[in-house]
Amino acid sequence: MEKLNTLTDIILSRRSSKPATFNGNRIEDTEIETLLNLAHWAPTHGRTEPWRFKVYAGEGVTKFCEAHAALYKTNTDPEVFTTAKFESLQKLGSQTSHIIGVYMQRQVPAKIPLVEEIAATAAAMQNILLGAEALGISALWSTGGMTHHPALKSFWGLAEEDVVMGLLYLGYTNEPAAAGKRNGTASEKTEWIK
Ligand SMILES: Cc1cc2nc3c(=O)[nH]c(=O)nc-3n(C[C@H](O)[C@H](O)[C@H](O)COP(=O)(O)O)c2cc1C
Repeated sequence: MEKLNTLTDIILSRRSSKPATFNGNRIEDTEIETLLNLAHWAPTHGRTEPWRFKVYAGEGVTKFCEAHAALYKTNTDPEVFTTAKFESLQKLGSQTSHIIGVYMQRQVPAKIPLVEEIAATAAAMQNILLGAEALGISALWSTGGMTHHPALKSFWGLAEEDVVMGLLYLGYTNEPAAAGKRNGTASEKTEWIK
């Protein structure tokens, strides 16, 4: 029961935090390694372990945000491009300690269905978020900017069949966590068959 109470507390208190609320303090790289080791214990069909990480730390965070903004500029129709979005992508790292780019590396030849490899990688990401909560680290799973654009895949040198799952922005904040919100209850989304 004690284990369940601890787990419940971590799951319920985990909240998404915007990088703009981060205070600029640095997370130790060893703590990031701890989170990546938790990710590595996600369930994986056929033990394909499809999760892959690009960890940006220190100057790497600024360089990634600059590159992300540049990818947006180069790959966006001038009629749709906005300077506000360009600058917001550039600034996303200003208070952020680490960014973990997460993608699903497709097995070759693929034996496991695509949805399962995406699911396993998402489970790995949730392990990171829960570990972060347990360590007092604030986090945002973002799919903003160029996350789902082929340009980011090329930038990372990924294969056509790999899938970018998101960017995890990690840092510390002095702000209290927002109240959690869910539309309805688990029971409303559940059908019991007895
Ligand atoms: C796949 C995925 C993509 C997300 N992308 C974004 C995003 O681009 N920007 C953002 O602010 N939040 C993003 N979120 C976080 C959600 O907004 C957040 O989980 C939701 O508001 C519920 O809040 P909570 O995480 O604090 O419970 C994403 C979450 C998931 C699972």
